[in-house]
Amino acid sequence: MKLLRRPDWALPERAATPEPMFRNRRAFMIGGAATVAGGAYLLGGTDHAARADLAGEAWDPAAPRNPDFTNAGRPITDEATNSTYNNFYEFASHKRIYDKAQALPTEGWTLEITGEVEQPMTLDMDALRKKMPIEERVIRHRCVEAWSMVVPWIGFELAALMKRAAPLSSAKFVEFKSFLKPEIADGQRARYYPWAYTEGLTIEEAANPLTFMVMGAYGKVLPKQFGAPIRLHVPWKYGFKSAKSITTIRFAKERPVSFWEELGPREYGFWANVNPEVRHPRWSQATEEVLGTGERVPTQIYNGYGAQVAHLYSGMSDLGDKLFR
Ligand code: MTE
Repeated sequence: MKLLRRPDWALPERAATPEPMFRNRRAFMIGGAATVAGGAYLLGGTDHAARADLAGEAWDPAAPRNPDFTNAGRPITDEATNSTYNNFYEFASHKRIYDKAQALPTEGWTLEITGEVEQPMTLDMDALRKKMPIEERVIRHRCVEAWSMVVPWIGFELAALMKRAAPLSSAKFVEFKSFLKPEIADGQRARYYPWAYTEGLTIEEAANPLTFMVMGAYGKVLPKQFGAPIRLHVPWKYGFKSAKSITTIRFAKERPVSFWEELGPREYGFWANVNPEVRHPRWSQATEEVLGTGERVPTQIYNGYGAQVAHLYSGMSDLGDKLFR
């Protein structure tokens, strides 16, 4: 077992930004981002990177929108707001990391598929773009900090990649690992975090058609602050399950221990399904704030995707308890 030496503020109750601080920062960020969207460039010097991304490389040819995912029940979150409000602890423990994240070298990036599979493989991003059934999905994302957004992601179902890798019957779980580059990612120099960022799903969750590997957003190649060049998105779970900038997908016999679970198992459980009934120790999950609008809306069980995923948990009576304990 890994022994972690943490400073006071990294203890579970305080592992994430305290809510009042988080709210002030968000109000500031949203105000600033809205200004960019309006075309009045009042932001400071470090905002050049975000502006450059708004004019980023188009996904060409345009990815066809999946007709089952055209309407997320709420408008798409404004791109400028979204691309300047990100959780990416590799770069810092606050949301304004878009400029720092530009240091991530994504050229020549490879994704390794390993572990309990018939066909282990290493693929570059070009191969994935050519081989995978690329599509666009407008989808909801819900963070455990009780904010949410709607994003037009471009990518492919993880199930399509799993088909090629052919998991063995011994594969019960899938582990996702993000990059490890402390030389460019300041946050990774903090030793009390169990880098590299790690997440996990059951094999059934991974094979669900909603589980999506993201390579683009807003009609463009994925900007770095969103987790370029390839990230996971699991829309019925809290956002921390959706690991960014992934280098390795490992099929495993044992359940992986995730980054946040290792730091604070009472707050960041393995299952982490969106559930308005189960209160997080610090944040009620009954409602959520819609990023960029300030509107507060009721949270839906499984983030509203229950029809597609509730069956995965039908035999598990104590799932609520398992979320945060
Ligand atoms: N993946 C990595 N590698 N590092 C992170 O800090 N944060 C998670 C998740 N994936 C995180 C990560 C959290 S808490 C959330 S809410 C989402 O990414 C945020 O994704 P976004 O910045 O694209 O909105």
